Amino acid sequence: MATQVASERVFNYSAGPAVLPVPVLERIRDEMLCLPGAGASIMEISHRSEQFIAVHEDAKKRLARLLKLGDEHELLFLQGGSRLQFSMIPMNLLRGQECAAQYVITGSWGKSALAEAKKEGAVEVLFDGAETNYDRLPSTSDLSIRPDAAYVHVTSNETIQGIQFSDDLDTGTAPLVCDVSSDFLHRPYDMSRYGLMYACAQKNAGPAGVTVVAIKKELLARSQADLPGYMNYNNHVENDSMWNTPPTFAVYVLGLVAQWLEESIGGLEQMHQLNRDKAAVLYQVIDNYPEFYVGHARRSDRSLMNVTFRFASESLEKQFLAGAKEAGMDSLKGHRSVGGIRASIYNAMPMEGAQALATYMADFAQKNA
Ligand SMILES: Cc1ncc(COP(=O)(O)O)c(C=O)c1O
Repeated sequence: MATQVASERVFNYSAGPAVLPVPVLERIRDEMLCLPGAGASIMEISHRSEQFIAVHEDAKKRLARLLKLGDEHELLFLQGGSRLQFSMIPMNLLRGQECAAQYVITGSWGKSALAEAKKEGAVEVLFDGAETNYDRLPSTSDLSIRPDAAYVHVTSNETIQGIQFSDDLDTGTAPLVCDVSSDFLHRPYDMSRYGLMYACAQKNAGPAGVTVVAIKKELLARSQADLPGYMNYNNHVENDSMWNTPPTFAVYVLGLVAQWLEESIGGLEQMHQLNRDKAAVLYQVIDNYPEFYVGHARRSDRSLMNVTFRFASESLEKQFLAGAKEAGMDSLKGHRSVGGIRASIYNAMPMEGAQALATYMADFAQKNA
């Protein structure tokens, strides 16, 4: 097997699985053969072992600190990705409820979540941005949220379209259920607003395989006993996310990313500032060449995580991608459903990555505009 050297690492703008912090990768490498005290790798030890329990507890504690979680919520590590949550949420929180669940559709992921919820019960669409090709968010005052809605489902960041809510929505007495898969931990949250928050880890928090769910305890009473075992949140709460064998490696990496956020970045306030600074560098170039780079998102709704834009022609797009690859910048092609370019600049993307891309974009515009 050939040895890959670190110097071959590119700036990786993949939308997910995505870039991880280098210190986290180095720590994984150092502990790959033997997790300290375990005599074997993290992948080879029992989830009931003292060493794994310590890893699991550490990951939970760090995430709870970053999210400032109090006693109101349970924190779960599940499998099945965010798509399983699209089903688990209505199975647990909508079945048996008198009032419909309300969905805010701001892009592709919200649409997919809605499609699954429809199979479980009554749903209402509060907003659907299809008319403007999902380039904007609704203003909260335009949403007719029912105080007795089963819940209100929102996608905080639409990964494909590159539009993002910048605040914690106030849904009043209706529980807010939020898919934060592609911007989890990118800023501090007011968790008291969230009935349920969920995120697959493979974009902003770790590798594929683990999905974080924070759920208000009061909502657990809604789950009906005849749900399939894995689908019932209560089984996971009662067994501290070990109702079945957990994704041990993914939980370990999730904990290391949380440690990096706490100790190297300094917390979510600092992370947020860094994310704003990185995104500003890229949007500035788009704004400097408005005829050449056509941003997808309405200015006020731009995502700090996924920067999406197009060119006037497909040949320019191909040329842009080829030149970027040659310059050590990879995975910039937009999602197949919308085309164009998408630069994902998640937490672990260093400022140097945003600057390198901005310099390349400015240079490319000057040569080709
Ligand atoms: C916002 C959002 N929600 C849900 C998903 C689906 O996640 P998964 O592939 O883990 O099911 C993704 C990405 O894949 C996403 O970006």
